Amino acid sequence: MKVIVVKNYDEMSKKAAEIFIEQLKNKPNSILGLATGGSPVGTYKELIKAYNDGQISFKDVQTYNLDEYCGIDINHPQSYYYFMHDNLFNHVDIKEENVHIPSARGENIAKQCEDYNNALHSVEIDIQLLGIGSNGHIAFNEPGTSFEQETFIVELTDKTRQDNKRFFNSIDEVPTHAMTMGIKNIMQAKSIVMLISGASKKETVEKLLKGPITESFPASILHNHQDVTVIIDEEAYQNMK
Ligand code: GLP
Repeated sequence: MKVIVVKNYDEMSKKAAEIFIEQLKNKPNSILGLATGGSPVGTYKELIKAYNDGQISFKDVQTYNLDEYCGIDINHPQSYYYFMHDNLFNHVDIKEENVHIPSARGENIAKQCEDYNNALHSVEIDIQLLGIGSNGHIAFNEPGTSFEQETFIVELTDKTRQDNKRFFNSIDEVPTHAMTMGIKNIMQAKSIVMLISGASKKETVEKLLKGPITESFPASILHNHQDVTVIIDEEAYQNMK
């Protein structure tokens, strides 16, 4: 696991974007694994800038998102479908048919889960962007999830719902379930870039970097992956000094 400590959120975003820009320059038809949450927003802004400057194009890129809330409409501003379009896809030349986001609404969610998992089996993600939940979750794989888990429907923990409440009007509006890539799917990416920023993640960073590999802290599995870069800002890194 390669750890890069940077000054702040902006530096983290620039560093992560550099890695993605390099990837797209070397392989214009890359398959990207993408994430939502506050952490990647700045990275997406940098990628849009690079696109506008003519440095990169998304015309041959395919994307697979990590997760999606169950039961909220794609046009809901907090759906991950909406988030991805608002923060990245609407601003670059990606083709909509190359965008893959789990769909967890309507009837037969189990079938949709299976379809997404099969789609993941048919590709190899070149580079996966990841945030981390304060409880160590990756995508929506909450503590206790098997490292062998593939795409599934998860019941969100109270901690995760509280953490994500800031994006909704009240806790009652935060969905209780989500569809998520499993840890096994995530580990199959060729390379992984994780972003960690802010003082609220200082204990999370400590557990990730010093703790054991355990299913009770899902992100710890990343120590077993051969190509992981974790970009951490100084506030999040403060307990390590
Ligand atoms: C959500 C997402 C995760 C993300 C996490 C952290 O739970 N499902 O993919 O990593 O939030 O979000 P943030 O970056 O806002 O701290």
